[in-house]
Amino acid sequence: MASEKLLKELNDHFNFELLSAYHYMAMAAYCSSENMNGFAHYFVEQAKEEYEHGMKFYQFINDMGGRVIPRAIEEPKNDYSSFLEVFKEALDHEEQVTVKIYELLDLAREENNYPTIQFLQWFVEEQLEEENSMKDIIFVLEGIDGNFQGLYLLDKELGSRQ
Ligand code: FEO
Repeated sequence: MASEKLLKELNDHFNFELLSAYHYMAMAAYCSSENMNGFAHYFVEQAKEEYEHGMKFYQFINDMGGRVIPRAIEEPKNDYSSFLEVFKEALDHEEQVTVKIYELLDLAREENNYPTIQFLQWFVEEQLEEENSMKDIIFVLEGIDGNFQGLYLLDKELGSRQ
């Protein structure tokens, strides 16, 4: 059981995870258009992960006796001028997701909703991992500073993401 308010917030987050997938598809498409297929692969994989995150919420809302309501997904940012800008945008987005997870956790704690608290723990760890991954790549991109050889090597590395 969960309150209507908590179910609504969980549903909003289900939709936000799908919006995340959409953002990463736009980033992948930009990277593809710049012939950096490793970067593009990284973001396609990220988009798939976000869809899976959304589906974890889908299943959990069902398990809690709620009904998932898919909402319209807004247009993502499609204009980029560098890979560094893309990754900075990705980090900014992940930080927004983290804040939303923490807010959900605060609400679940207020309501002593133990299944939701437990469900969200996985996302707390996942967000830390995702933010750190983006920060690491931003650090490397800042070091590369647009150098083609550096970008080429990073592209090869990101292309191996499973
Ligand atoms: Fe599902 Fe990257 O947050």
